[in-house]
Amino acid sequence: MSSNLEQDILSRRTFAIISHPDAGKTTITEKLLYFGGAIRDAGTVKAKKTGKFATSDWMEIEKQRGISVTSSVMQFDYNGRRVNILDTPGHSDFSEDTYRTLMAVDSAVMVVDAAKGIEAQTLKLFKVCRMRGIPIFTFINKLDRQGKEPLELMEELEEVLGIESYAMNWPIGMGKEFLGIYDRYNKRIEQFRTEEEERFLPIDENGELAVEHEMKKTSYYTQAMEDIMLLNEAGNDFSAERVTRGELTPVFFGSALTNFGVQTFLETYLNFAPTPQPRLTEDEQIVDPLDKDFSGFVFKIQANMNPAHRDRIAFVRIVSGEFERGMNMTLSRTNKSFKVTQSTQFLADDRETVDKAVAGDIIGLYDTGNYQIGDTVVGGKKTFQFERLPQFTPELFMKVTAKNVMKSKHFHKGILQLVQEGAIQYYKTLHTEEVILGAVGQLQFEVFEHRMKAEYNVDVRMEPMGSKIARWIQNEGDVKESMTGPRSMLVHDRYENLVFLFENEFAMRWFQDKNENIELYSLL
Ligand code: G4P
Repeated sequence: MSSNLEQDILSRRTFAIISHPDAGKTTITEKLLYFGGAIRDAGTVKAKKTGKFATSDWMEIEKQRGISVTSSVMQFDYNGRRVNILDTPGHSDFSEDTYRTLMAVDSAVMVVDAAKGIEAQTLKLFKVCRMRGIPIFTFINKLDRQGKEPLELMEELEEVLGIESYAMNWPIGMGKEFLGIYDRYNKRIEQFRTEEEERFLPIDENGELAVEHEMKKTSYYTQAMEDIMLLNEAGNDFSAERVTRGELTPVFFGSALTNFGVQTFLETYLNFAPTPQPRLTEDEQIVDPLDKDFSGFVFKIQANMNPAHRDRIAFVRIVSGEFERGMNMTLSRTNKSFKVTQSTQFLADDRETVDKAVAGDIIGLYDTGNYQIGDTVVGGKKTFQFERLPQFTPELFMKVTAKNVMKSKHFHKGILQLVQEGAIQYYKTLHTEEVILGAVGQLQFEVFEHRMKAEYNVDVRMEPMGSKIARWIQNEGDVKESMTGPRSMLVHDRYENLVFLFENEFAMRWFQDKNENIELYSLL
C-alpha cells in the first residue's frame, strides 16, 4: 500500500451523533460543518422536522440556505483529519436503520440537553454503542439556559447509562449567569460571550485563574472551583485507553446555539477519536483497514420515496483499502462480480458522485435490488463475509394482509424481499400463519406500505397491534402452546424461532411468575 493511501486512511474519523430529539444534534452538526468549512454561515438553523419522508433535517437546511450539505453522510476536513459524520435519523424517521448506522462508525458523540438529562432515545442508541464497545464522547448542551446541576448530570450518566465519566471541562455558572467553561484538559478558561482576544484566560499551576479578573469574585467561579476540587479528588482519572475501549466517556459542556464550546470540543475530540477500526469476518479473521484490497459492508438501504427515482441506494462502509469508480467488486453472498460505474457519496436532491474513497468512508451504490443489509462487497480475489449485523428487538407490530386476495403471490414476494433487505421484520402466527410485521419505528411501516404499492403494486391492509415486548426463548422445547394467550402471544420469527409478544411489562412478569422454567431473552 502506498504511504499516501495509508495516510489517507489514517486521517479518517467516522462517527455518529446520538441524542434524543431537540437536544441540539442538528445545531451542533451545523457548527461542526462550519468549522470544517463545509458551510459558510453558522447562523441559527430553525430545523423543521417536517416532510414525512425527509431523510433528515439536512434537506431542509439545504432548501433554506441554498447550500449543499450532505443529508446522510457529511464530510469535512479539519486539522489534517477527514471527518465523516453519519446522520442517525430520529423523530418520525427513527427506524432500524438508525441503529444500523451505529454499526458503521468508529465512535459516537452523545448530545444531552442539560435541562433534561438522559432521555429515552439517547438511552436506546447508547446501548447499541456500548454493545459495540466504541468510544462515546458526551456533549452536554444548552448551558446558556438553566439546567440541572452539572454534578447531578455526571451522576445521571453513571447511574442511568452505567458508564464512567470524566469532565473535560466544567461550567462556570449557567443560564443567564453562564460565564464560561473551565477547561481541565487544555488548562484554560474559555469565556462565554466575550471578545475573541479575551476568549481564553490562563490558569496557574494551582488550577486557579492566573490573571486578575472580575469572574474570580463571583460565587459561580467559587462553586466551579469547589466542584473541580471534588472531581480531582473523588472523580475518575482520565485514561485515553479506557476512552478507546468505551469504558470512560469524556464529558464536555457547552452551548451549540451560541456556538460556545463546540470548537474546543471538536479539537479535543479529534485528539482521541479512533482511526478506522478493523472488523471481523464470519470466520473470525481480522480485516485491517490498511489491507490493500477493498472491502466493505452494506449497513443501510435507502429506497427513494420520490416516484421520479425508482432506484435505491445501498450505503457501504468501507472497511479496508480504496474504492475507485469503475472498479470490479464481488458481492460475497452471491459470488457475482460487477463493475461499479455509478456511486454516490450521499443522498440529497442533487447527488454528488464519488470517484475515490478509502477505509473509514461511506459510499452509496446504486441498487436495483441486488443488495441486502449486512452484505459484504470485496475488491480482491478472495471473498469473505463480515460478521452478521445484529437484529434489533422490534417494539411496534402490525398485522398485514393484501387488500386483494388475488394479489397474494405479489404480496408474499414483496414482503420477502423487503424483509431480506432489512426494511422490516417478519413474524407469523402459529397454525393460521397470519403475517405480522415488527419495527422499531412507525416510519418503517409507512415505508413498507408505500413500497408494496410502488414496487409490487399491492395495496396492503395494516392493522395496528400497538407496542409489544418481544422475547425469544432459550429453551423452546419447554414451551407449550397453552402458554399463549391474548397478553402473551406466541409467534414464529422468519427463522422459525418461537417468540412471545407480551402486551406490556406487567404481562411479561406475570408470565414469568407462572412459568419460571421458561428462559426469555431479547435481542439488542
Ligand atoms: P435536534 O436536531 O437534536 O432535534 O435539535 P436541534 O438542533 O434542532 O435543536 C432543537 C432546539 O433547541 C432548536 O430550537 C435549537 O435552536 C435549540 N438549541 C440547540 N442548541 C441550543 C443551545 O445550546 N441553547 C439553546 N438555548 N437552545 C439550543 P428551535 O428550532 O427554536 O425549536 P424550539 O425551541 O421551538 O423547539
